[in-house]
Amino acid sequence: MDSSVTTTSIARGARPAPELTVVIPTYNERANIPLLVERLRKTLDGFEWEALFVDDNSRDGTSDAARAIGETDARVRCIRRIGRRGLSGACIEGMLATQARYVAVMDADLQHDETALVAMLEKLRSGDIDLVVASRHLSGGSDEVFSALRQKISRGSSAIARRVLGVSLSDPMSGFFMIRRTEFNALAPQLSSQGFKILVDIVASARGKLRIAEVPFVFRERQHGESKLDARVAIDFAALIVAKLTNDMVSFRFLMFCAVGLTGFGIHLAFLQVCAMQGLSFAKAQIVATLGAIAWNFVLNNALTYHDQRLTGWPFITGLIRFTLICSVGALSNVGIASWIYDYDSDWWHAGIAGAVMGAVWNYLVSSAIVWKQR
Ligand code: GDD
Ligand code: MN
Repeated sequence: MDSSVTTTSIARGARPAPELTVVIPTYNERANIPLLVERLRKTLDGFEWEALFVDDNSRDGTSDAARAIGETDARVRCIRRIGRRGLSGACIEGMLATQARYVAVMDADLQHDETALVAMLEKLRSGDIDLVVASRHLSGGSDEVFSALRQKISRGSSAIARRVLGVSLSDPMSGFFMIRRTEFNALAPQLSSQGFKILVDIVASARGKLRIAEVPFVFRERQHGESKLDARVAIDFAALIVAKLTNDMVSFRFLMFCAVGLTGFGIHLAFLQVCAMQGLSFAKAQIVATLGAIAWNFVLNNALTYHDQRLTGWPFITGLIRFTLICSVGALSNVGIASWIYDYDSDWWHAGIAGAVMGAVWNYLVSSAIVWKQR
């Protein structure tokens, strides 16, 4: 038999996968890369490990810094993502790109105490545990470097995650954890690539099926660069709650799209008012108000609802034109459906709501597919 087709035996020159991959999402962390690698080398000395940086095309050359190290130490690798941004998405992509038995996620900015990795690995090696979370809220851990306000926000959102999603962790907002690769791969299709809260998502999606342990760690001061957490994190968190509560039926994006649509309705009325004061006929005023509201919705949706795919420059202009055409059809179908229902059900608000829902769903689905298509 030809031995080259035997897949079960180990091929000549084969190099087995490491036991542990540490996935490290980065955005503008150049100065921290060599420091972190040095610390990992020290802490994980004696283990089979690799560090996998997932960089969203940072302008400061983070991926070059990682690759430069990788040239002489193949345990250091880097995925460079172009045209995409987002912490959860970067973590998922990195975790899906490994053969290691265990996968950890940690921040690049040295705020996560890498020495906790050893305790985490030992818990997984015991075989009774699928996921180990490094927690700031266990005794022995802390997040004292945070301002009092941020500590409050962190605790508040943890409480919400526990109550609403039934996640029984002391620190569900932690960005530092280790999981069995096979368990992660099974859950991956259910995870949302938007947002910051990958751990909450993993635990909520597993619906109690993961055996979880926690180890304490002290959250350290950031050394170089700055935090990327901003007000949008709150929106992302709300999005995750909505998605998980509705079994991924209602996306937060759709709710956001509807909320923007409501503000557009207000703008529409305001335009009508102004046009009436200018002495325009109702038909003309209605056209101006409709176009004004569509442009308003486009700008807001581009900035908020589709923030991760927002259009700039020429695509912004062509996007606006497409959006206007789509919404015009949406408005016509809204009126059509409403009057058709009104023929059968003379309660005008039943007809009105049905028309509005129809229009919103149409505008959302078609805009998602044609204007802000995921690249
Ligand atoms: N690839 C990629 N893409 N990486 C990102 C992005 C992104 O869009 N945004 C942030 N990162 C990387 C950063 O470079 C850093 O390595 C890590 O993700 C954490 O980002 P920070 O900006 O340092 O977040 P933080 O310190 O404010 O928040 C940390 O603590 C939170 C707990 O309150 C993180 O660990 C959060 O995950 C955690 O929830
Ligand atoms: Mn940080």
